[in-house]
Amino acid sequence: MIDTMFKDPIFKGKTIIITGGGTGLGKSMATYLSQLGANIVITSRKQKVLDETAKEINDATGNLVLGIAADVRSIDEVRSAIEATLSACGRIDGLINNAAGNFVSPTERLSHRAFESVIGIVLQGTINYSLELGKYWIQEKIKGTMLNIITTYAWTGSGYTVPSACAKAGVLALTRSLAVEWGRKYGIRVNAIAPGPFPTKGAWDRLFPESMRSLFDPSERIPLQRVGDKQELANLAAYLLSDYSAYINGEVVTIDGGEWLENGGQFNDFRHISDDMWDQLEKMRRTGE
Ligand code: HXC
Ligand code: NAP
Repeated sequence: MIDTMFKDPIFKGKTIIITGGGTGLGKSMATYLSQLGANIVITSRKQKVLDETAKEINDATGNLVLGIAADVRSIDEVRSAIEATLSACGRIDGLINNAAGNFVSPTERLSHRAFESVIGIVLQGTINYSLELGKYWIQEKIKGTMLNIITTYAWTGSGYTVPSACAKAGVLALTRSLAVEWGRKYGIRVNAIAPGPFPTKGAWDRLFPESMRSLFDPSERIPLQRVGDKQELANLAAYLLSDYSAYINGEVVTIDGGEWLENGGQFNDFRHISDDMWDQLEKMRRTGE
């Protein structure tokens, strides 16, 4: 059981919107931020899921949690969600762009609509919320904070999840671009988290379906030899949204147990070499035998 990082209600009086907040990592962040006193608005396409999650969190924390159904791809629905949040809470202080769509497939099997769907959710959806909330913050002179959930393959790319890799790379560019433009002019901070594997139903059903699980274990690729715990990610999200990180802007914090570096370093596979073999190699190197 991973401990929570902050204990005091550091977000009391703040309102935070979390897209895709009804399930998985979004739900974990919503739960922790609500524990820390924030008013939480969770959005996604399924009102029933949102209502269940909102009730579960509110029962646990006693703080306001509102579920508002809205498709991130629709600018009208995004505007309505923001208006409904303002009616209920009076102001908005933070945004987590967490909603995503993804699946695994050889790229040549994909239609252009498959690309459109994932890029629409991940990149255009993030742009829709960022632009609408950014305009509101600028108009109201609020120094809001934005957090984008990307992945480590936003910079390495990845076969078999190419629409997602393209979209997440776009969100990374958006993060760094807005951090500079809006940071300087308006004091709005924009950061990102790049998670490695965190088992959630949404990701695991689509990316590591039952039939594939016997073929490889994601934790074997990770130096720390385990997958992430959702509270570890929620702790990091709380920090990056809080005033404790007031000087962090345009940063991407990787939380993956070292996975992407392990697989990027040319010689990291030398972990398979035994101590005996290292002894022999050293002897050969020193004696030239
Ligand atoms: C190939 C597929 C497909 C698949 C859909 N399509 N699924 N193509 N393989 N598995 C194609 C369809 O045939 C269609 O093209 C087009 O994509 C749109 O399909 P729809 O079903 O109409 O899309 P939509 O209803 O918009 O649903 C979006 C979705 C779905 C992305 C396809 O999976 C979804 O709702 N996902 C939301 C949650 C999610 O994905 N969570 C995981 C995030 S995990 P045609 O041409 O037939 O019309 C994550 C982790 C990253 O991002 C890193 C992990 C380590
Ligand atoms: P998840 O539970 O499937 O979360 C995705 C959420 O996005 C769902 O709640 C989904 O709800 C919502 N969503 C999808 N399409 C939407 C749309 N058009 N409009 C509004 N909401 C939409 O998966 P997760 O693992 O928690 O993923 C959360 C984030 O972490 C994503 O950005 C993902 O890329 C990132 N990530 C996850 C992992 C991991 O290992 N889990 C690793 C790296 C990055 P509806 O379908 O009901 O709309």
